[in-house]
Amino acid sequence: KAATLIGVPLEEGSGRGGCAMGPAALRIAGIGHALGELGYAVTDIGDLRPAPATDLPRHQNARHLPVVAAFTRALEERTYQAAHAGTVPILLGGDHSLSMGSVSGMARHATDLGRPLYVLWLDAHADFNSPETSPSGNMHGMPVAFFCGKAEFTPILPAARPLVDPAHVYQVGIRSVDEEERVAIRKNHVKVFDMRAIDEEGVGAIIRRIIADVSNANGLLHVSLDVDFLDPDVAPGVGTTVPGGATFREAHLIMEMLHDSGLVSSLDLVELNPFLDDRGKSARVMVELAASLFGRRVLDRPTRPA
Ligand code: ARG
Ligand code: MN
Ligand code: MN
Ligand code: MN
Repeated sequence: KAATLIGVPLEEGSGRGGCAMGPAALRIAGIGHALGELGYAVTDIGDLRPAPATDLPRHQNARHLPVVAAFTRALEERTYQAAHAGTVPILLGGDHSLSMGSVSGMARHATDLGRPLYVLWLDAHADFNSPETSPSGNMHGMPVAFFCGKAEFTPILPAARPLVDPAHVYQVGIRSVDEEERVAIRKNHVKVFDMRAIDEEGVGAIIRRIIADVSNANGLLHVSLDVDFLDPDVAPGVGTTVPGGATFREAHLIMEMLHDSGLVSSLDLVELNPFLDDRGKSARVMVELAASLFGRRVLDRPTRPA
């Protein structure tokens, strides 16, 4: 078992400062140590800091496109390499636009293997805007449309890149979708389980179904975890909090079930904004969830004396 940590100090996609400190906070919260304890050989390649792309024009409704594009290219390659080498790439974000690169790299890897790539998007938001539909121009609201080939910019990646089938994208926890974005999700058959679905069916039933689908297709499963999937009380360290999010227990159950499935190929930990956090609380929660995803069990925890 091996994991590659890839630091992504990217915040330009989020429209505010802070996410660039995310990788440092996740490391301080002990991401490497936690994976090591679970028996992973961990390689931390440090932070990527590509120079902004010079071949892309500014885009009026895709803010900081040259920066995001440079990260997309670097991440597509580094994520692909890490997976190709037989390790689990773990992206330490950084805002959610980093998934343009990480998921595209995993799509290339899945194509190599002749297996379909599935994506589990744990988020308050669908992130399916394009420059045409985005109300903000912030590229962290666009990654899903991008890796599904539904948001075209001046070419960021080669035109022949493998895309993700939008019907293979499972979005869980959704509770904030823009008007035109909703139309796009429906039209492209993204599989959305919103908070109402969670309340009615429970996360257990939902995740069981998703695991069955991926397993029946012999797919790889990329997990993309946005801090704002969680309720703001659980994880306040994010710029786009939406009330009524997942509880600590729901999130852990999801991670434990995913671990038991053996299907998870890769992970994004995104949108952590340490500038907005409460004494490292959200960073710690993200690390705990990653530990559950990679095999930590309740009974493995030592009971500490008071
Ligand atoms: N839908 C909004 C937008 O496009 C918010 C997106 C928030 N995305 C995120 N990854 N936090 O601007
Ligand atoms: Mn997001
Ligand atoms: Mn979000
Ligand atoms: Mn299919």
